[in-house]
Amino acid sequence: MSVEPVLQVRDIVKVYGGVRALGGVSLSLAPGEVHCLAGENGSGKSTLIKVICGVERPDSGEIVVGGGEPLTHTTPSEAIRAGIQVIYQDFSLFPNLTAAENIAYLSELAARHKLSSRRRIRAAAEAVVADLGLRIDLDADVADLSVADRQLIAICRALVGEARVLIMDEPTTALTSAEVQRLFTIVERLQERGVAIMFVSHKLDEVLQISQHVTVLRNGLVVESGPAAEYTGQRIAKAMIGRDVSQERHVDPVEPDADVLLAVDGLGRDGAFSDVSFELRRGEILGITGLLGSGRAEIAEAIFGVHPAEEGTIAVGGRPATISSITEAMKAGIGYVPEDRLTQGLFLENPIAENIVAASLDSYRGKGRLLDRRRIADSISALFEQLRIKAPNPQAPVRSLSGGNAQRVVIAKWLDRNPTVLLLNGPTVGVDVGSKEEIFTILRRLAAHGTGIIVISDDIPELVASCHRVLIVRAGRLVAELVGDEIEVAEIQQRMAG
Ligand SMILES: Nc1ncnc2c1ncn2[C@@H]1O[C@H](COP(=O)(O)OP(=O)(O)OP(=O)(O)O)[C@@H](O)[C@H]1O
Ligand SMILES: [Mg+2]
Repeated sequence: MSVEPVLQVRDIVKVYGGVRALGGVSLSLAPGEVHCLAGENGSGKSTLIKVICGVERPDSGEIVVGGGEPLTHTTPSEAIRAGIQVIYQDFSLFPNLTAAENIAYLSELAARHKLSSRRRIRAAAEAVVADLGLRIDLDADVADLSVADRQLIAICRALVGEARVLIMDEPTTALTSAEVQRLFTIVERLQERGVAIMFVSHKLDEVLQISQHVTVLRNGLVVESGPAAEYTGQRIAKAMIGRDVSQERHVDPVEPDADVLLAVDGLGRDGAFSDVSFELRRGEILGITGLLGSGRAEIAEAIFGVHPAEEGTIAVGGRPATISSITEAMKAGIGYVPEDRLTQGLFLENPIAENIVAASLDSYRGKGRLLDRRRIADSISALFEQLRIKAPNPQAPVRSLSGGNAQRVVIAKWLDRNPTVLLLNGPTVGVDVGSKEEIFTILRRLAAHGTGIIVISDDIPELVASCHRVLIVRAGRLVAELVGDEIEVAEIQQRMAG
């Protein structure tokens, strides 16, 4: 055990305006080790990563890279030169550059050639894409690519340079299971080359497949650290949250003659999906699942008017609704929590409170159309409590929230509008296991109070735990409807794959 660590973090403290994000964290990474960093939303994982790669300066503590001198902090360029590469939770790509430029531009700059060369950038990008066995349109603007492709580009970018330490903050959230397995193959290959990998994920069983070591953070402190072989997903979850987490099936009964809140009939859009018909009743939680690219997200986007359907009809609360825009969908009483919350759901620089009430300001106008500030403040504190949003205060910008807490803000925003039907696309992506359970408890409560809930998700265990019915989409069509006891993980997986 005398292998010299490639990275040592010693007693790092980081406080943001009174909020203690890290309270003295130490850990080390051996060459070729995959180190799982787990912890609930807001426990300090991303902050630790930012300190390691020099984006944030710690209040105290040291970092040792390789056998070098202890540093009180590194700068981002020192970190990169020392071989530390990071893939951030939000990828941090440049939307107006092409895929190839995103992959290779920074390393081209770092290499300090006199002239940066388009051809060299392109060749470097091609090499890493080929090395990883990926297929990406290198000439596409990143803004036009899917979330999954953007994630792959972020991975490629990190691997262009000679990485000794690769840190990945929730890299698999938007990947299909096939893409995850491919990523894991890449991880193994890097391990063989001696690269140390720090992996942050809320998919605990998944990350255990590849980890040798586990460190669990809670409230900015290391609460457990040990060999991965001693851990199960359940045990990590318990260390994170401090209690057992259950994913047992729990659905409240639905009245057989309950009102139909949403009726979709013969919905179709060329090239995306066709002949989609279903109903949603009061009190019901309906799951829609399918592989990435099956059309599951497109169906939701049509119902919310993002990309309207070309065929078929939609009725909300018994009334026919023409939905050719988001505004019309909202007027009809539909709410939508999008998949890509960081770009579609939130204004990151604005206060949390503003984000929550942005879509429902009109309901707070009293006499003379004046905003009732008191009532706004009351709703916001009620939603903070209901969703257990962890933030310094409601006036802080959304940018200061941890990923999982930002997701709660998107949900809060729609709850505040009190929609007839609420569609949620991947509502627990990036949300820790304990909070997942809480979010579904909230959805159950909403359903019981009369909101129709549709959850689009590829987290099958959570659908099994909470849905009354599950619809399965394959190649743009509904291929199965499972009810009650038929809703099982293996059954769903089989029907998804066809
Ligand atoms: N720039 C900032 N300003 C103020 N507070 C911040 C800032 N960045 C992070 N925090 C706070 O520090 C704490 C830790 O956040 P961090 O992003 O490290 O959590 P995390 O473990 O990555 O969570 P998640 O799983 O939700 O991504 C949170 O309470 C967060 O609100
Ligand atoms: Mg984070």
